[in-house]
Amino acid sequence: MKNIDELEKNLLEALNNENFNLSFELYCKLSDLFKNMSDENISLKQKQWIRFLLKIMSKSRVNCDDTIYTKLKATIAEDDIKTQNILLNEYEIYKKQIELKSKPQSLQITLTTKCNARCKMCGNITKPIWEVSEYGIKSIIQILPYLQDVTWMGGEVFLHNKFKYLVEQSSLYETEQNIITNGIISDMDIVKLLVMNNVRTSVSIHSFNRDVYKYITGKDCLDNIYKFLENINKLRKKYFCLSLNMVVMKSNYKEISNLFDLALKYNINEIILLPLHCEIQTFYNNENIFFGDNINLDVIKYIRELTQELESKFKAIGVKFINQLPVFEYLNKINDNESIKKDLIPIATLKCNEIFPKQKYKICRYPWTKLFVENDGEILISSSCRNMISYPMGHIDKDLLLDIWNNDKIKEIRSKIINDHCSEYCQKILD
Ligand SMILES: C[S@@+](CC[C@H](N)C(=O)[O-])C[C@H]1O[C@@H](n2cnc3c(N)ncnc32)[C@H](O)[C@@H]1O
Ligand code: SF4
Repeated sequence: MKNIDELEKNLLEALNNENFNLSFELYCKLSDLFKNMSDENISLKQKQWIRFLLKIMSKSRVNCDDTIYTKLKATIAEDDIKTQNILLNEYEIYKKQIELKSKPQSLQITLTTKCNARCKMCGNITKPIWEVSEYGIKSIIQILPYLQDVTWMGGEVFLHNKFKYLVEQSSLYETEQNIITNGIISDMDIVKLLVMNNVRTSVSIHSFNRDVYKYITGKDCLDNIYKFLENINKLRKKYFCLSLNMVVMKSNYKEISNLFDLALKYNINEIILLPLHCEIQTFYNNENIFFGDNINLDVIKYIRELTQELESKFKAIGVKFINQLPVFEYLNKINDNESIKKDLIPIATLKCNEIFPKQKYKICRYPWTKLFVENDGEILISSSCRNMISYPMGHIDKDLLLDIWNNDKIKEIRSKIINDHCSEYCQKILD
């Protein structure tokens, strides 16, 4: 038993450090010890370990070759459909298969565009209201047993009458769940549903000033968000993940540092900063500070310094800080302002190129692992390729997700990527 405790401790450390090779070695040793112990708790433990290991495999882009596949497969219970699927999926990616026996690992799906706010930047408000039909709900239920994770998207997801049902079904199938909400509905029933089913919850907060908040969201509801966060904190359990996200623009960039006090007050695990994108042209024209010819280098510099400082402050209190703002880094040191603009590249790209210098985004795995349902029901591959592969694979109200998965359109994309035409799609956005 001492041996097992020691191994588990080391395995946890290796997994947390995202060291796949060491984790794999330790997991195989642990499985050998588990082999002779038939006990329900042991099977549960083993399932948790291998799911964590597979996550690290996928995150670190490790090739699931024949040796790894065979060794890991021998440790998965026959009736554990989800883990079997994730492993097979990784193996089929390694094998560069075009037609897949495995199902997706991940689904991001808009359930409804109904909303209780009217944010001036949000594309949903200009479109007719749409929500997933009964047919779509059945299709989601059919795919849940295979999925590693699902993200419910809106509008406000709570406004779909099947939201509670979907959350409970996903829990039953042990599918990890995520939502983004504006936090306006702070009912205890909703909060209970999220906490009991361990739904990772991200709350949008775009200002700490009532007038600015109202200007951006069309609602005088800032206090509702605080109530929502308070209620979550009353019920949450140890591993419940709560994040805040802020869309940064001209009206609110000076408020970014307020996120620190809020994170402390409400035990926030993660802070995400996103740049304003162009969904509503007039609002974007007034509020954009990051893209195009209008960028103001002094503002960019101010935000860069502020976020650098915040990064270390958040690190010190154990909050994950995800800064997706294109806070630019200079490629060349040129004094003339116009030339500088042309030679700016995002810090995020620089960092990623350091991590994957050779691949440089060559092989995109999304068409092998993901499906994404847009706010009009069209099925795409992922939200990040929506501008590159704009034609849909199908529609959630008339095509089953499982049928889409190997249709001609998606197979053609996989085939193009394998044959090195990936740049036609993704490299344009990422390079
Ligand atoms: C469409 S909303 C749906 C979820 C929920 N209603 C909310 O607002 O949190 C998802 C996220 O997109 C963000 N968003 C909306 N319009 C945006 C834009 N033009 N640029 C960047 N993010 C935007 C929202 O602030 C929110 O964080
Ligand atoms: S709350 Fe979310 S979905 Fe509603 S209008 Fe704002 S950004 Fe759009």
